[in-house]
Amino acid sequence: MQEFAMKTKIYMGTASLEKLKDLDLENTFIICDPFMEKSGKINTITSILKERNINYSVFSKIVPNPTIDIVAQGLEEMKRINPTTVIAFGGGSAIDSAKAICKVYEEINNFEKMLLIAIPTTSGTGSEVTEFSVITDPKLKVKYALVDEEMLPDIAILDSQFTVSVPSNITADTGMDVLTHAIEAYVSTKSGDFSDAFAEKAIKLVNKYLIDVVKDGSNIKAREHMHNASAMAGIAFNAASLGICHSMAHSLGGRFNLSHGRINAMLLPYIISYNAGLEEDNENSTLDRYVEISKLMGISHGTKKATVHGLIREIRKIMKKIGIPLSIKETNIDLEEYRNSIKEMAKNALKDNCTITNPRQASEEDIEKIYLRLLNGA
Ligand SMILES: NC(=O)c1ccc[n+]([C@@H]2O[C@H](COP(=O)([O-])OP(=O)(O)OC[C@H]3O[C@@H](n4cnc5c(N)ncnc54)[C@H](O)[C@@H]3O)[C@@H](O)[C@H]2O)c1
Ligand SMILES: [Zn+2]
Repeated sequence: MQEFAMKTKIYMGTASLEKLKDLDLENTFIICDPFMEKSGKINTITSILKERNINYSVFSKIVPNPTIDIVAQGLEEMKRINPTTVIAFGGGSAIDSAKAICKVYEEINNFEKMLLIAIPTTSGTGSEVTEFSVITDPKLKVKYALVDEEMLPDIAILDSQFTVSVPSNITADTGMDVLTHAIEAYVSTKSGDFSDAFAEKAIKLVNKYLIDVVKDGSNIKAREHMHNASAMAGIAFNAASLGICHSMAHSLGGRFNLSHGRINAMLLPYIISYNAGLEEDNENSTLDRYVEISKLMGISHGTKKATVHGLIREIRKIMKKIGIPLSIKETNIDLEEYRNSIKEMAKNALKDNCTITNPRQASEEDIEKIYLRLLNGA
């Protein structure tokens, strides 16, 4: 038996923020990062609340790769305000933090359910439609992928006006996160016709619009399609979950300071090769799934393996065009430190929630080998 539920109500398209004008809102707590306040973007939300005489307060201390400490600070502030509505405004970091803060608040206050409205400003994580929240413990240098149905936002507003200001490097990284979500959901052991439908559309949209939107961030049509693709990939992986690309990205991202989407992109070609068994003599069933993905991207060669090699080449071509490094040695990471961290990272990756649904059962040694390959781009 499989299950598919889509509980988040989604408003999308130009001016969808207007929906805030007629939602049933009360005392509202806005969670965002400092950029949203400094850039004045938050005024688009607060002006609506002011007009409607709705009480609100803002917690704007969210940092990329949010930490346990930030969640604790947000929680303290929330306890002071006792809101009934939370608006999470920003990238995955703000939305993930808001989810974790709400969840703990609800538990300690025996509060039934906070109205959680997510307004993403990056097109990447799909956090606005998922039960996932990724929080970092900086002391242990570990990223935890928490999964809880109660963290699912009630409402997502996909208004691409907010994404126009995203710098091209972040557009590139987050866009590759979308592609990774869709591909991992598609090959997951929990994939099914319903999650496939969303993953397929997301793959097609990323393939069509990502390079354009990185080159010209003001291309509003491409921005809108990428914003929808991000949520669609989120819906796909919320149903089918992810795989070891994300497990390894969480582990690497907890240890070294690189953006989540960038790490995923760098790992993706190695994970496809590993899962598809490109170096094995036989052919596994996941190979067929990657062949389907290749077809969606217009790639087809003589044999299944040649086609999936073509898919990997295409992904690397996209990465080069949008300025994403192909190996650790092309980043600022200290190579010796990276090499010395491989064992620990592999251990943590194996324990990650996303490992469970990877189509090929990976051993610690397999994961170590992939990290090692990524070092030099072998
Ligand atoms: N919950 C999930 O399902 C899920 C899935 C994948 C990743 N994640 C997590 O989400 C986090 C990454 O989120 P992200 O990639 O969206 O980045 P982010 O939220 O960390 O933001 C990255 C940077 O972009 C800036 N930014 C955001 N919106 C902007 C805009 N409109 N204009 C200009 N700058 C803007 C932010 O200020 C920040 O400096 C990671 O912690 C990752 O592990 C969560
Ligand atoms: Zn991701």
